[in-house]
Amino acid sequence: MAVRIEPSILSADFSAFAAEIERIPSADLVHCDVMDNHFVPNLTFGLPMVQRLAQVSALPLDVHLMIDDPDRWAPGYAAAGAHTVTFHAEAAHEPIATARAIRAAGARAGIALKPRTDVGPYLAALAEFDQVLVMTVEPGFGGQSFMTDLMDKVREVRAAIGGRDVWLQVDGGIGTDTIGTAAAAGADTFVAGSAVFGQPDPDAAIRHLRALASP
Ligand code: DX5
Ligand code: ZN
Repeated sequence: MAVRIEPSILSADFSAFAAEIERIPSADLVHCDVMDNHFVPNLTFGLPMVQRLAQVSALPLDVHLMIDDPDRWAPGYAAAGAHTVTFHAEAAHEPIATARAIRAAGARAGIALKPRTDVGPYLAALAEFDQVLVMTVEPGFGGQSFMTDLMDKVREVRAAIGGRDVWLQVDGGIGTDTIGTAAAAGADTFVAGSAVFGQPDPDAAIRHLRALASP
């Protein structure tokens, strides 16, 4: 199973995203946390930033939308050139229609689940999604502690994916001490903010995380 490491620029220097992305050539994708201060109690950046990053980044972008009304906004991020656009199940009114609109605009479509959201209803619609994001912290902030009790949900999603090309992403508290646990439960796509950009050599941190996640 391929292992993907996706540094989150939430932990990078907000005044220098282009330069920060140049520091992580070993990354598979760049994770962009879009927060609106409604769906989560924090505010980051929106579509104009992602449009510009898509132009300057040598790496593909993985956009994590922590916003209300993703049905309205998500396709625009796909049209901006994001590789993957993931929206929250709790915020979507029409998740399948939104996933189809993301795909129609040229990106992979992801569905994200807060820690207490049951994944069951979405597993029946897995053909509509290219990624399932199991949040391993409450969304909103970097630097929180990994919630080990979410591994049952990761195993449930892994069993449902079977042979499909659906990426199983975990986000929140991923670091050298936790990535092996998430990998063993079946995750293949790992977001890491502080564990990459909080290190003096972020690219070396990616290579270390990749080795720890690899079988
Ligand atoms: C949290 C964000 C994460 C965050 C992870 O809501 O979705 O992507 O950047 O940060 P760490 O890896 O520091 O927990
Ligand atoms: Zn995220």
